[in-house]
Amino acid sequence: MDRIDKLLSNNGGLSRADAKLYIKNGRIKVNGAVVKDPGLKVSDSDEILVDGKAINTAKYRYFMLNKPEGYISSTEPEPGDNSPNVISLFKSEGIKGLFPVGRLDKDTTGLLIITNDGELGHRLTAPGKHVDKTYLVKVRGELKEDAVSAFEKGFEFKEFTSAPAKLEILDRNDDGTPAGYSTNCEGEVYSAAKVTISEGKFHQVKRMFLKVGCEVVQLKRLSMGKLCLDENLAEGEYRELNVQELEALSR
Ligand code: URA
Repeated sequence: MDRIDKLLSNNGGLSRADAKLYIKNGRIKVNGAVVKDPGLKVSDSDEILVDGKAINTAKYRYFMLNKPEGYISSTEPEPGDNSPNVISLFKSEGIKGLFPVGRLDKDTTGLLIITNDGELGHRLTAPGKHVDKTYLVKVRGELKEDAVSAFEKGFEFKEFTSAPAKLEILDRNDDGTPAGYSTNCEGEVYSAAKVTISEGKFHQVKRMFLKVGCEVVQLKRLSMGKLCLDENLAEGEYRELNVQELEALSR
């Protein structure tokens, strides 16, 4: 149970002072009755209307975002970089305390979970919690078959050795050799792959591909644990997780 003025400020996009003013002016209804007392206790099951429009009363909210390129997902401002933060895409929700679960680089697109549930965030990203993350990758250069075993073995980096990762080179000929390389007008060769890693070190995927001589030019996260990016979400779009998706994440 929370005070109505607090709930309006956490979930309804109002400042605490505005919430009090709205109440004073009779603009808030709980279960059909106009609220008079800003200290009124309300719970998840109450219907709360602001100017006749229902607000979501759940304490914790969970969204999947198809992160667009050019947005940063760090919680701290990045010195010298004025790019928008992914949380700015959620402004109209009026929810306090939203943050991205883990990070994607500014030029990475795809699945990013946004929530105000710190416990879930911690559970999915704490060191030692190995949640599989699958990425679709486009690299400059020819991805050779032996990269698969190199990813499986792991790579030595300055600060860690990567755990076994699954690399699947996309577009193969019938005989199993990689095909479907695309080339640009200058004849440069590109390859495509899917990679699944269980860690989340800084620029990890990009650094792993550099170890096999390929520079990542496009990176998109497709899944995190059992949660897959909804293909109907265009870049920059998001939606609330459904009950099954939330359960899958919690497993
Ligand atoms: N690995 C990277 O290099 N960048 C990301 O954004 C995510 C994983």
